[in-house]
Amino acid sequence: MSESNPAGATGRANILLTGGAGYLGSHTYVALWQAGFQPVILDDFSNSDPATLKRLQQITGTPTRCERGSVADTGLVAELIKLQRIQAVMHFAGFKAVGESVAQPLKYYRNNLGGMLSLLQAMGDSACQTLVFSSSATVYGDPSQLPITEDCPRSHTSPYGHTKLICEDMIAAVQQASGAWRTAVLRYFNPVGAHPSGLIGEAPLGTPNNLLPLVAQVAAGLRPALKVYGQDFATPDGTGVRDYIHVQDLAQGHVAALAALLRGQASFTVNLGTGRGHSVLEVVRAFELASGRPVPWQFAPRRSGDVASCYADPGLAEHLLGWRAERTLAQMCADTWRWQAGLLT
Ligand code: UFG
Repeated sequence: MSESNPAGATGRANILLTGGAGYLGSHTYVALWQAGFQPVILDDFSNSDPATLKRLQQITGTPTRCERGSVADTGLVAELIKLQRIQAVMHFAGFKAVGESVAQPLKYYRNNLGGMLSLLQAMGDSACQTLVFSSSATVYGDPSQLPITEDCPRSHTSPYGHTKLICEDMIAAVQQASGAWRTAVLRYFNPVGAHPSGLIGEAPLGTPNNLLPLVAQVAAGLRPALKVYGQDFATPDGTGVRDYIHVQDLAQGHVAALAALLRGQASFTVNLGTGRGHSVLEVVRAFELASGRPVPWQFAPRRSGDVASCYADPGLAEHLLGWRAERTLAQMCADTWRWQAGLLT
């Protein structure tokens, strides 16, 4: 173990974050620290930047606790849980590119399901059975109703979505087998934005898949124009509508979910979204305002598998956790731009 600080020396509860150096994991690391927890990262850096660890240290003012390794290494995870006296785990590690999962399905099944299997095994073996899991609105497939409530039927439109769905089922199965599990399944809508310091944010390797990183790169002049996929959806302006949620709100949702489990709340599944949908063209306009830069765009054919609209009913999360997303689309764009502009310097 690279970590020499004895577990519990800080008086804070130790929380393991698999994939904690990634986009959502790193923001949640900061939120946990600020809420009085001691986050401990496990990351293999296959899709994250080790420089994030220094940035986290800058934000929190304390050395970042991190173990380099894979969640698929059951022995390592079990040892980490024991040595670091981990009280709960947040499982962020996983691949998330929808298109890539269609092209390379086995990579997704192996990594996302193998990682979950290994983690559940290690947690069960170590009697550390409090888990917060990163699920996704993708488990609603083509949603049968709007806004989407947690009891909407689940389905999938990609191998990536299928892995999220199966992971949810794996969690349900271990829970059924043993009453010792306390789990929170968090179904994210569209996470965007960055920490207001501009020190951490989303840094996709290669060409981004998601709208906001692409819009930011167009505004920065790194790409000539945005392709707007589809102009004839059944939405107010014909472009796709999504529930964009600021990553800072999402991070606070994780803290609220963890706190609920630690105070004895029974296991739950909740949507983490704002409840508001924005179209692609609304996002483009908001980004132009926030950045002061033009975002040239042109219409392109629909992207395969895209649905017209997807937005949450976030009422259950508010009821159970007392949590609600607060940040506006303008803030999401401003913080994304600050991060993107920092990458250019
Ligand atoms: N879009 C464009 N041009 C682009 C990229 C995206 O017009 O270059 C549009 C899409 O068509 C869609 C919207 O922007 O209408 C958002 O697209 P994203 O790719 O950013 O996000 P998705 O809603 O397709 O997918 C996201 C996550 C998935 C998750 C899903 C859950 O990427 O991991 O939300 O609903 F499964």
